[in-house]
Amino acid sequence: MKTWIGLMSGTSMDGIDAILVSFEDRYIRVHATHTTDYPSDIRQRLASLSQNRGTPDDLGELDHATGSLFALAAASVIEKAGFPPASITAIGSHGQTLRHQPDGSKPFSIQIGDPNLIAEHTGVTTVADFRRRDLAAGGQGAPLVPAFHKAFFSADGEDRCILNLGGIANITHLPADNSAPVTGFDTGPSNALMDAWCLDQTGKAYDKDGAWADEGVVDQDLLGDMLSEAYFSRQPPKSTGTEKFNLEWLKVLLNRHPDLSGADVQRTLLELTAVTVAQQIPHSPGMTIFVCGGGTRNRVLMRELHRTCSPSRIASTAELGLDPQWVEPTAFAWLASRTLSGQSGNLPEVTGASGERILGAVYYA
Ligand SMILES: Nc1ncnc2c1ncn2[C@@H]1O[C@H](COP(=O)(O)OP(=O)(O)O)[C@@H](O)[C@H]1O
Ligand SMILES: [Mg+2]
Repeated sequence: MKTWIGLMSGTSMDGIDAILVSFEDRYIRVHATHTTDYPSDIRQRLASLSQNRGTPDDLGELDHATGSLFALAAASVIEKAGFPPASITAIGSHGQTLRHQPDGSKPFSIQIGDPNLIAEHTGVTTVADFRRRDLAAGGQGAPLVPAFHKAFFSADGEDRCILNLGGIANITHLPADNSAPVTGFDTGPSNALMDAWCLDQTGKAYDKDGAWADEGVVDQDLLGDMLSEAYFSRQPPKSTGTEKFNLEWLKVLLNRHPDLSGADVQRTLLELTAVTVAQQIPHSPGMTIFVCGGGTRNRVLMRELHRTCSPSRIASTAELGLDPQWVEPTAFAWLASRTLSGQSGNLPEVTGASGERILGAVYYA
């Protein structure tokens, strides 16, 4: 039995999700999971650097610091499973995205978390740097999870959408006709803006269960201003990040709405996610939207998605056999298995790359 580890930290920069799995055809056996939260000083330094505040020294030190934490997350999940490290086939590490700029004249995407340290500290072969080959081939380098969704979650005769509510929200549409092309793209902000506003106004890292948002009301004028952002009406392939959707973006819009309460703004941000997701999903009769990511724990966001996405059915990926927190890390464990077997990991119809590519670089144990 081959066993794989997936390591993921997204744009929320909350911490590293680690999973140890094996793949038996389309069945995913989960052996252990572990989350290593980022200490608040690391989170703050990552947030600064991701907004272009910092030096090459900051970059180097954070690459090392996060690399050590990724290694620790991997070691912890191995220990929880009680497996000898030598029995693990490989680790797939997404790394921590600092900047994602796929659309300029010199497209790039920067993930840190030195994979050399992961391989060295765990003694397990590590695959990392998944995005840049797709970018080199003219793609967005994102999203990469649709290939995994297609492999494990598609069902002939059923129209399905996978919706991931991370810092940014992304969708994968798996058409009922499994030979039809898959679409997948980032719809826009999810937790990232809500987290940023919550931290700015309350000092708390996130709005637990959406309770604070629930105290506010949607301001339709502010929502209208937010919805005029060109990204939402752009055709895919497209991907985005906190380079665009950040506190500065929000504060510029708020200048025109100075009298809103903090809770009203939070509730409007939540509505923005619920509305932009619903608008961009290609709804069809009988479609089910399977949701994953940390946003599934925001009770109010889930309630509003039921409303905005109706009559499509909203369900959890748990119905497909994988807990919502573990879909993305599992995807990177699977992407590592693709790399090591010499198989492509990108879907060109999703990323816009000129063809399928074997993704990532290998750091041998
Ligand atoms: N109980 C909760 N209530 C509301 N939001 C939550 C809760 N738990 C997690 N979250 C949100 O989920 C985010 C983490 O989601 P995650 O899927 O890890 O995103 P990413 O892939 O960007 O790291 C947190 O930053 C927070 O906004
Ligand atoms: Mg996370």
